[in-house]
Amino acid sequence: MAQRYLIRTYGCQMNEHDSERIAGLLEGDGMVPAEGTDDADVIVLNTCCIRENADNKLYGTLGYLKSLKDDRPDLQIVVGGCLAQKDRELIQERAGHVDVVFGTHNVHRAAELMAEAREHGPILEILEETAADYLASFPTALPAKRDLPYASWVTIQIGCDNNCAFCIVPAVRGPEISRPFGELVAEVERLAAAGVLEVTLLGQNVNSYGRDLTTRLRTIDAGPADTYEAGEAWAIDERRRPRPLFADLLRAVGSIDGIERVRYTSPHPKDLRPETIAAMAETVAVCEHLHLPLQSGSDRILAAMHRGYTAARYLERLDAAVAGVPDLAVSTDIIVGFPGETEDDFEATLEVAAAAEYDYAYTFQYSPRPGTEAADMVDRYVDPATTNDRYERLRTVVERSARAKHQARIGRRERVVVEGPSKRDPSVTSGRTRQNKLVHFTAPQPLKPGTQADVVVVDAAAHYLMGEFREVVAVPRYRTHIPVTAAGVETPAPH
Ligand code: 5AD
Ligand code: SF4
Repeated sequence: MAQRYLIRTYGCQMNEHDSERIAGLLEGDGMVPAEGTDDADVIVLNTCCIRENADNKLYGTLGYLKSLKDDRPDLQIVVGGCLAQKDRELIQERAGHVDVVFGTHNVHRAAELMAEAREHGPILEILEETAADYLASFPTALPAKRDLPYASWVTIQIGCDNNCAFCIVPAVRGPEISRPFGELVAEVERLAAAGVLEVTLLGQNVNSYGRDLTTRLRTIDAGPADTYEAGEAWAIDERRRPRPLFADLLRAVGSIDGIERVRYTSPHPKDLRPETIAAMAETVAVCEHLHLPLQSGSDRILAAMHRGYTAARYLERLDAAVAGVPDLAVSTDIIVGFPGETEDDFEATLEVAAAAEYDYAYTFQYSPRPGTEAADMVDRYVDPATTNDRYERLRTVVERSARAKHQARIGRRERVVVEGPSKRDPSVTSGRTRQNKLVHFTAPQPLKPGTQADVVVVDAAAHYLMGEFREVVAVPRYRTHIPVTAAGVETPAPH
């Protein structure tokens, strides 16, 4: 009988996508998805370390899995991802029943490591940097293991070259490396041919996508390979100027037949360029949604965070985007309680959040990550009660604009792509608009995920819209759907 696997994913979309790739590898080895922990032969925990509670959750889950393994010694327990990269040996020291630990630079080795551990016992493989064959493993390791059959993530770059004082990502994901332009276009063409209509381009700092590629190409003689590496627009430009290629990529991916929606996450405000806004506005498939992480509205705190912009600069860029892309929805990430944050600093954040009129925001309480610059600012830590109070006040401000933005859509006819039955009430269908808004409505008949339908918005809350069904506009083209278990997506891609 085939071995059964279960993958639990913590953290951001980057991890979600890595989990899909791991599922692809395991199924390539003949495994099939398990229903739950009880019938699983292998349990993979794909971990996150961006905030503290992720660590606590992992060690809690491992404690629970120990009792399962005591009953079933053959059960293989595997820990991968960012927390594994950070904690390394500590995982097996704290949880001796873990069979395999792998990190962020060798995701493509997951299946091999599991096979090795079955033969030779517990194994730990953490690489210091991206393995030479890791990038090459991207396109091929992606069979039909997508969570939503009509939508796919496409990693365009790995790692991050920034040094935000609060952030552990550069330490666990390494420096920024872009995947070749031509490889990405080919991957999206393949996805489109398989019936995918929506892609989300993933990276820690998507706006600088391609800067490394063009910097490298500039120093070597021009040749036909340049189009593959950096796209045609760059290859035919005689100046051979090192520059990011994100806007070119949006245009190229958005013009692929069958791709109706292109999303991306996340751009960094300091690198958001006018070309990107123009490409969004001029490429029909690129959705009217910008996730632009603010982190703080205080210039003093932004400087301490090394974010590279002021609040005024942020709002200027946001205004340019809103002016350039009609009906643009905007969302953000904000941290409260960064070391040294005063009441005045926090009020500046409230002001910027109100001025930005966010459609939604992921808000976080600062959590010290050992090894990051901010974690050493112990003398300036904000006390938890104050942080908590600020967090609640910020949420009130964000919910106010979210509700207002949503109410303004009442009466409008919106095109949604169906995700499936609503999680709370299966008789209700849920879909998403181009602005990334969840719409709940009652369909006259069951609609397959990926169906495009028109609804009229009849009611609005802070986190969703209610719609009235009008008509089915297009039915999905994909054939198979093999779900991947997720423990819950909590955050956007780290930024
Ligand atoms: N504490 C709290 N929030 C954090 N984030 C990243 N690091 C931390 C931290 N140490 C948030 C940022 C980022 C999002 C993915 O997580 O807002 O954009
Ligand atoms: Fe990089 Fe984003 Fe972390 Fe800053 S917050 S270091 S840009 S991943």
